[in-house]
Amino acid sequence: MRPSSILILTGAGISAESGVETFRDKGGIWSRVKLEDVATPEGFARDPAMVHAFYNARRAGLSTVEPNAAHHALAKLERLHEGAVTLVTQNIDDLHERAGSRNIVHMHGELTKAFCAACGAHSVAAGDLSVDLTCAACGHAGSMRPDVVWFGEGPYHMDDIYKRLMIADLFVSIGTSGAVYPAAGLVAEARAAGIRTLELNLEPSDGTPLFDEARHGRASVLVPEFVAKILTQS
Ligand code: NAD
Ligand code: APR
Repeated sequence: MRPSSILILTGAGISAESGVETFRDKGGIWSRVKLEDVATPEGFARDPAMVHAFYNARRAGLSTVEPNAAHHALAKLERLHEGAVTLVTQNIDDLHERAGSRNIVHMHGELTKAFCAACGAHSVAAGDLSVDLTCAACGHAGSMRPDVVWFGEGPYHMDDIYKRLMIADLFVSIGTSGAVYPAAGLVAEARAAGIRTLELNLEPSDGTPLFDEARHGRASVLVPEFVAKILTQS
């Protein structure tokens, strides 16, 4: 029977076929860059210019990539499925938006946004961020940072995510290694609530044993197949 409410979690793997690097695959970002240097508040305090350069390069890279069939299939599901479809992503790219998804929760923030560490104002990051920028809201100099949640910082919107998960009757995890909490803990929360769980990933992840069903292969193949099956169910 067609599920009435679906909560979908995505990770870097859904963007891999668009040419966006993942983190823990062979040759992934963390095999080249120390996450302590670019994805922790301590790293930013130590060398803000280097952290800005890391995210400025990733933000510039967004203009060279396009959503793939997996992103488009999820946008189609949101458009055509009468029930609720919530998309929770760990990704900081904007590929889900560019594919047409609207009901998106970015739990690790967004590369296209910035925020002021002095006053907390969020803004669009139009172009490169740097230590020379002043905050348009409070005028403070040097406090603009990428609007990205770093290790050790609380993710965004967790209360909302848990509320939406608890009313779902299907939880689908796509393209994530299940290495980082609290995203990696959602499958256990779903199981405890009696919610059906499905993993679509290139290979078994840390969380695979917890899923009712796991299909392994490329997201650009598995996700359109999953969406087509849901939309043909009555
Ligand atoms: P975690 O303990 O699940 O981290 C998973 C892995 O990341 C660890 O096994 C370790 O290899 C590495 N790691 C974690 N914290 C580190 C640190 N301070 N220095 C070096 N390596 C570290 O994750 P966590 O530390 O409990 O962080 C979870 C919080 O961080 C969550 O709120 C999550 O939303 C956020 N987060 C954000 C990002 C991001 O880049 N946007 C990445 C991961 C976690
Ligand atoms: N199709 C489906 N899955 C894929 C594909 C693909 N084409 N390519 C890779 N994958 C899978 C890999 O098998 C892996 O399990 O995607 C997963 C990517 O895992 P990670 O690189 O760990 O990325 P993610 O799970 O999103 O990392 C979680 O850690 O460092 C932080 O902020 C970062 O949000 C990220 C978080």
